[in-house]
Amino acid sequence: MEKFIVQGPCRLKGSVEISGSKNASLPILAATLLFDDVVELKNLPNVKDIYTMLSLLESLGSKVKINKQKKIIKIYKSKKIKTFASYNLVKTMRAGILVLGPLIAKYKQAITSLPGGCSIGARPVNHHLNSLKKMGMKYFIKKGYIHAKVDKTLTGNLIRLPKISVGATENLIIASCLAKGKTIIKNCAIEPEIKDLSNFLIKAGAKIRWIGKRTVEIIGVKSLRSISYNVMGDRIECGTFCVAAALTEGNLKIKGFNPKLINTELNILKQTGAKIQLKKDEINIKGNNIIKNIKHIKTKEYPAFPTDLQAAFMVLLCKAKGRSIISENIFENRFMHVAELRRLGAKINTKKNKAFIEGNTKFEGAELMSSDLRASVALVLAAVTAKGKSIINRIYHLDRGYENLEKKLSKIGAKIKRIS
Ligand code: UD1
Repeated sequence: MEKFIVQGPCRLKGSVEISGSKNASLPILAATLLFDDVVELKNLPNVKDIYTMLSLLESLGSKVKINKQKKIIKIYKSKKIKTFASYNLVKTMRAGILVLGPLIAKYKQAITSLPGGCSIGARPVNHHLNSLKKMGMKYFIKKGYIHAKVDKTLTGNLIRLPKISVGATENLIIASCLAKGKTIIKNCAIEPEIKDLSNFLIKAGAKIRWIGKRTVEIIGVKSLRSISYNVMGDRIECGTFCVAAALTEGNLKIKGFNPKLINTELNILKQTGAKIQLKKDEINIKGNNIIKNIKHIKTKEYPAFPTDLQAAFMVLLCKAKGRSIISENIFENRFMHVAELRRLGAKINTKKNKAFIEGNTKFEGAELMSSDLRASVALVLAAVTAKGKSIINRIYHLDRGYENLEKKLSKIGAKIKRIS
């Protein structure tokens, strides 16, 4: 199994190019099932989850052509589409559930593996299923698979999501594009990746209109036209490098991402003492030698603070002068990194969904274990700022979502090596 060896501490300086967004690419890839002709996608990140989704599409009958150098992927539809999404592919990546909406909308039937739980929480898909049911999908669950069909066609309806869910919003938007009539979805997630998905579908001829802050109206069309689309930059990767600069008294020019989309995170970083200058698609961020504590960060749906950056910000707050609190309000078990950070010297206590971070930590290198994607990158950040050598095991979690992390970090001054 591959691991990282990190020698710290170091200051990170230079420029970083942000890769394409994993969380925007996955629903866009699933949505290609709606098309009859080729779709060209640019700027997809070169990460494991994207290849898992491509394998899932291939298993359903799509043909995939990849030009890795130019970062262009073309997806062609074969005449023989299958509608069976296997456990083997869905179990490693929960976003596999996103093929259910397009399969049922376009092919009227699907047998899709129910995603299992994962280390950060149970992550049920009840809102995906109940909402599609309101549009006419019938289903039953047997031996871990959702057996779904629709008699004639999905029919538009007024749907109010009982809970804000990124995946359920995406599945519903995608399915509604080919449904009969008008669908209105209320209480939608409005993450920038969802806006990227709707921009992609609109470009292909879908009739999607955001008619309120969390309300979208979709009028079904017969078919979508072949297009080429450039996927947005990765919001979480961008936030991670911003933390890296603040944490190491570094100085980074972060390119390829619209700073307006991470306003909440940048405001918190300013409060910790980082100096930030913004340009159109660029962030210049300089870390201060004194990191100020933050009274309370609460993870919440966009535009509030994202759960996917909770672990990275916790590392930063460990080094702050004073006590901070983080509340995790999205997932029930997302403090797996805490025990590992304690091994590096952090003083953090958790009670229910709150982490109490003492601050003033001088991290010292140690051997660590990654538990999930976002926790892994937090361990890397902590190791970069820790004195001495750290070994980070199970970095396959990290490879699911961060493109060339060690290359990007080495280029800005980190001493990090991947070994088998
Ligand atoms: C997406 C992101 C993930 C991010 C998360 C929250 C992708 C591929 N993944 O995951 O990186 O951490 O949003 O921003 O984009 N829930 C239910 N029933 C449902 C669906 C969700 O109870 O049917 C609950 C979940 O268990 C969780 C909360 O709602 O507690 C939010 O989950 P959701 O927004 O759906 O997350 P994902 O789409 O899985």
